[in-house]
Amino acid sequence: MKRLLVIGIGAGDPDHLTLQGAKAIAATDVFFIIDKGEEKDDLVRLRRRLIEEHGRQPYRVVEARDPERDRTAAAYEAAVEDWRERRAELYRRMIEDELADGETGAFLVWGDPGVYDSTLSILDRLPFEYEVIPGISAISALTARHRTTLTRVGRPVHITTGRRLAEQGPTADDILVMLDSRCAFEGLADYHIYWGAYLGTPDEILVEGPVPEVAERIRALRAEARARKGWIMDTYLLRRLG
Ligand SMILES: C[S@@+](CC[C@H](N)C(=O)[O-])C[C@H]1O[C@@H](n2cnc3c(N)ncnc32)[C@H](O)[C@@H]1O
Repeated sequence: MKRLLVIGIGAGDPDHLTLQGAKAIAATDVFFIIDKGEEKDDLVRLRRRLIEEHGRQPYRVVEARDPERDRTAAAYEAAVEDWRERRAELYRRMIEDELADGETGAFLVWGDPGVYDSTLSILDRLPFEYEVIPGISAISALTARHRTTLTRVGRPVHITTGRRLAEQGPTADDILVMLDSRCAFEGLADYHIYWGAYLGTPDEILVEGPVPEVAERIRALRAEARARKGWIMDTYLLRRLG
């Protein structure tokens, strides 16, 4: 039997790793790391650091390059499905070729594996059992750094992407937005925004305030940070005023 673990590693701070996550890393023989390209080197670096700090020798690290996704395709869903298929094939080969029976293999997943991450849905296409170790999501990192709550008493929260918010407009009083490449909050005059980029890292930036007052500043900070680092990850909570 091959044992597979999907370990949530937190959203950027090495101390986000839970005790359960640290123990799972210590129990791993083979770490599978997917390299997403130069601009995301920082993300690979955190994974390597956690392996060095918590891994127990002898372990092996198997790296593979992420299949290219067709970002120009008009049919977004079809392009994602094609990429998932190719990634599933990559995982299958890595697990079959690099992990022996009786060994434990692990995928280290950014944040929590249950939040906007494709690892579980890709593994579901393969004939292997796996266990999931939860991690601190960028959602928890954001609300903690702003010292606010995700939920208000007895109220729902809508979790969505920047793409959907831009397409559909605001559909709730409390909206948590991830994967936004376009500042989809702009123009939402009756919302307060809690925004955070590179949460948990030395580059962390936090801005909070009514959208009309802070939107320009966020846009400028975002553009400057992105130009300087080559990539950005930001998350925000929108809360309707009044
Ligand atoms: C593919 S999703 C992965 C989410 C991850 N599984 C989690 O639980 O946080 C990537 C998005 O998560 C958010 N994100 C992840 N890490 C972040 C961080 N350190 N600071 C701000 N946003 C982050 C951003 O919205 C980014 O576009």
